[in-house]
Amino acid sequence: SMESDKCWAECMDVAVEIARKAGQMVQEAVKQEKRVSSKSTPTDLVTEADQQVEELIISTLRERYPTHRFIGEESSAAGEKCVLTDSPTWIIDPIDGTCNFVHSFPMVAVSIGFAVMKELEFGVIYHCFDGTLYTARKGHGAFCNGVRLQVSKEKDVSRALILTEIGAKRDPATLNIFLENMKKLLSAPAHGVRIIGSSTLALCHIASGAAEAYYQYGLHCWDIAAAAVIIREAGGCVIDTSGGPLDLMSRRVVAAGSREMADYVVRQLQPISYERDDHQPIVQS
Ligand code: IPD
Ligand code: CA
Ligand code: CA
Ligand code: CA
Repeated sequence: SMESDKCWAECMDVAVEIARKAGQMVQEAVKQEKRVSSKSTPTDLVTEADQQVEELIISTLRERYPTHRFIGEESSAAGEKCVLTDSPTWIIDPIDGTCNFVHSFPMVAVSIGFAVMKELEFGVIYHCFDGTLYTARKGHGAFCNGVRLQVSKEKDVSRALILTEIGAKRDPATLNIFLENMKKLLSAPAHGVRIIGSSTLALCHIASGAAEAYYQYGLHCWDIAAAAVIIREAGGCVIDTSGGPLDLMSRRVVAAGSREMADYVVRQLQPISYERDDHQPIVQS
């Protein structure tokens, strides 16, 4: 309705404000000494800054919207399931690219997505190093620093730049399929494949048309929630690796400027199985 449209527009303004504030906090923290520890595996890093930034974002939002629900990476305790209800829900990644953050590699973002009735309504992603702000609200277009975004319309993989990410799971079987998938796309041949270390910024590059396709197994709902709205509003396509509709909790995604490019990538991929964010049984693609 008009009423809720106005309401979500206001929530998005708040999200922009808090993403900038959080991003500035990350910018400051990058210059300080970092306290690094690991979570599920030795390469699954977390720092004090991850926790502090999430705390800032969620406490600010909760005070303002006490009836809303929150899913945040660092407050989702290890192994806890993420449940998306019909209630207005904020889906937050306080620092996307923690490994980059630890190394001061300049690809780190704050990501804030918002869903109502399990539908994504808006997304805000702030690039902490250069201050670039990506925003989109359902039905209102996608923007980078206020300039309208448009995806690449390329359909032919032989003219494509493809982005992917490898998660923290590094057992031989996972790495093997990861490399096989990459080999398939490189020998197609695509122009190139890039791994920048931030799922959310990679997805923003699909929205802006800087790359043609993205795929990943092992990402989480907070890596994709905000970016999915931004890509769709830029005219792109975000789907499941099976070719079906995106499932936020499935930990897998294919995104592309054109449907043809997305379908091509879908056909090349061999699946890697990850436990779902909501702990539901896994349906193989
Ligand atoms: C990770 C990054 C990384 C991707 C992982 C994500 P985090 O997020 O986006 O590029 O490969 O799957 O979990 O842990 O830095 O927020
Ligand atoms: Ca993490
Ligand atoms: Ca992340
Ligand atoms: Ca994170």
